[in-house]
Amino acid sequence: MAEATTEVTMDKLVSLCKRRGFVYQSSEIYGGLTGAWDYGPLGVELKNNVEHFWWKEMTQLHDNIVGLDAAIMMHPRTWEASGHVDNFSDPLVDCKNCKSRFRADQIDLEAACPVCGVKGEFTEPRDFNLMFSTYMGAVKSEDNIVYLRPETAQGIFVNFKNVVQTSRVRIPFGIAQVGKAFRNEITTKNFIFRTLEFEQMEMQFFVKPGDDQEWFEYWKNERINYYNKLGIRKDKLRFHQHGPDELAHYAKDAFDIEFYFPMGWQELEGIHSRTDFDLARHAEFSRKDMTYLDDQTRERYVPYVIETSAGLTRSVLMVLSDAYEEQQLEDGETRTVMHFHPLVAPVTVAVLPLVKKDGIADLAKSIEKELREDYATFYDQSGAIGRRYRRQDEIGTPFCITIDYDTKEDNTVTIRYRDSMKQERVPVSELAQKIRTEIKNYRRD
Ligand code: GAP
Repeated sequence: MAEATTEVTMDKLVSLCKRRGFVYQSSEIYGGLTGAWDYGPLGVELKNNVEHFWWKEMTQLHDNIVGLDAAIMMHPRTWEASGHVDNFSDPLVDCKNCKSRFRADQIDLEAACPVCGVKGEFTEPRDFNLMFSTYMGAVKSEDNIVYLRPETAQGIFVNFKNVVQTSRVRIPFGIAQVGKAFRNEITTKNFIFRTLEFEQMEMQFFVKPGDDQEWFEYWKNERINYYNKLGIRKDKLRFHQHGPDELAHYAKDAFDIEFYFPMGWQELEGIHSRTDFDLARHAEFSRKDMTYLDDQTRERYVPYVIETSAGLTRSVLMVLSDAYEEQQLEDGETRTVMHFHPLVAPVTVAVLPLVKKDGIADLAKSIEKELREDYATFYDQSGAIGRRYRRQDEIGTPFCITIDYDTKEDNTVTIRYRDSMKQERVPVSELAQKIRTEIKNYRRD
């Protein structure tokens, strides 16, 4: 038996992520770039797995949602139509003494500057647009400006007609997309929580006006169920409804799903009732028809939209935070264990021969080769078995398989479970199926 000891802190997560190759500071050899992070060998697997989990949930398991992958750079009129050129800004103030810049809503204007300590020397708040821009082609002029998208959603809206005309979707239906988004954020502390470059997993669900409230409730429910399925502890999730002063320029109503991160409750995902704001604005700015014709009722209308918008990289921080545990074992040792759901764990099965000699290592290698077809595997033959288990616990590998002399005799192996540390003997012929069943039935204790 083991007991949980300490609460996870951001410092512990950052340190584990660096030590085990999940996340590194961007351009670290040059002193790093604020607000930018790189995903290492285990981090990229974890991130890909979270993305695939979301994609499967949204597209494969909903028969009325199709996928899309739009370009990051879009026609600049897109961002005028969407309201981002005029409205997507934070109010900022500068310290007149040291020139440090802060978000006006996050600083007391009468107090001392947190950087230089000089009191009450802030400029008036000014709006600062969060979109990154660059110039397309050889000439740097206002006519050639292009933006890096600050949300993936607009790629979906501008393709609404294309999807309706080229696939067999009928309202109500959704379009899902995962991709990079960019925001020139001023406050980027808290590791990968808020970064300049991040990934979003967004889905726009098109409904008949008047049906939007019902679908809003439906998606709130679906999205909480999704986090439960991903194994996130229920008491770490809650809803927060936006007050009138919090609503984005496109939203009629909005709920955040918040997660209890190491720094406290923070937004993880937004569920927005966007009305026909985006499609109507694109119709106006592009002069293209954005209506939908219901071929049964012959009604024609501009659909309303319910959006679910989750950060992928922020979800990785959630998964890491929720998984982390330090346990005090009976023998006095402490083990750090990441309780990842097996479907997102970077390594699913570690294969560990108890000894190298007498053909045991070769046998282990051949078992690992077989398992590779279906699972992310890792082979490790170095060091004491207890240490090898700890290494796998720390990267969240749910199943360890040990191969020993008995394997040669009776073709069985030991499977050891990460969470309970229990072990059982399983015939090699049943191993792949056994792991499949364990993944399907997985519940965190
Ligand atoms: N299309 C709607 C939209 O973009 P948002 O609330 O601005 O809504 C949605 O962003 C989600 O994207 C957030 O809940 C968060 O998970 C993620 N996100 C937003 N800004 C981010 C940033 N700077 N770094 C990491 N994730 C971010």
